[in-house]
Amino acid sequence: LEASFFFDPSLLQKQQCVPKIFSWPKEYLVEALEELQAPVVDLEGFLRGDDDATEHAAKLVREACVVHGFFLVINHGVDSQLIAEAYHQMDAFFKLPVHEKSRVRKTSESMWGYSGAHAHRFSSNLPWKEALSFPYHDNAEEPVVTHYFISNLGKDFEQTGMVFQKYCRAMKELGLKLMELLGISLGVDRLFYGDFFQDGSCIMRCNYYPSCQQPSVTLGTGPHCDPTSLTILHQDHVGGLEVFSSQKWQTVRPRPDAFVINIVQTFTALTNGRYKSCLHRALVNSCKERRSMTFFLCPKEDKVVRPPEDLVVREGTRKYPDFKWSDLLDFTQKYYRADEATLQNFT
Ligand code: SIN
Ligand code: FE2
Repeated sequence: LEASFFFDPSLLQKQQCVPKIFSWPKEYLVEALEELQAPVVDLEGFLRGDDDATEHAAKLVREACVVHGFFLVINHGVDSQLIAEAYHQMDAFFKLPVHEKSRVRKTSESMWGYSGAHAHRFSSNLPWKEALSFPYHDNAEEPVVTHYFISNLGKDFEQTGMVFQKYCRAMKELGLKLMELLGISLGVDRLFYGDFFQDGSCIMRCNYYPSCQQPSVTLGTGPHCDPTSLTILHQDHVGGLEVFSSQKWQTVRPRPDAFVINIVQTFTALTNGRYKSCLHRALVNSCKERRSMTFFLCPKEDKVVRPPEDLVVREGTRKYPDFKWSDLLDFTQKYYRADEATLQNFT
């Protein structure tokens, strides 16, 4: 059943015309004519504990988040060698023949695994991409990512697992520091958000967008808002990430020394709607394949999403009711499965 809508990306890449199932309606393809002027927040002083630098960083974060929820961070403390190594491991995986990658194939019951040129939850138009998703949580006894790779792909992937284990740990650490900065920027207890996310299970996704002969008719990732809390994204030098801000699509210029930080839906609820999350998408291009790595910071499944009391008192009213993170996650998974069912009628 699943195989009926599974495409071999290496064959797709050779096609002169994009198969119809990958072409998107024109309204999704409106071109971006501008570059997003997202603030670049230097984290060096904040990470060192310097009060003035922290104040300045918090101000930049606040300004970006009340408008669109996108900003860049530099001097973030993540080793550039580790980022390069993660891309290297990612390339090795995506370059495998499709039958090898399919050993870790995502099923509709699971959030984890490889999906190649596959339906996703945001639309029934197929995205021109492959992705590999796996879980991360801090566990002193067991390195979960290393274990995921070894148990699904065998001992040959131990090194890949170890690199992503390290990468995810660095992302979680950065995510928690950013939560502290976000708390400062909102004028609430600086430990509130960090505590909320401390014991959460996170999601890591590697995106691989093959080059495409007709890039103007398709999308690598369709317009969507992430349902999680904070996305830490690294895009390679190719470019293709765009955000919808001020009623227009705007490009996010790649910057290898920066992570793109994207405030997303659950965090919007945790700020009582003060901080925005916005639509974004990823384009493909005809010359080069493109890669990006996304780390989604999430709370523990049973956590009730509720903004800090002082924020609510200040604002007067609650914008969203309490909800459990696991309920929102279940809902998005159901939506995803419904889309797969729609696609099945196509093929
Ligand atoms: C995504 O938002 O899911 C991916 C964006 C990107 O590849 O830049
Ligand atoms: Fe996204």
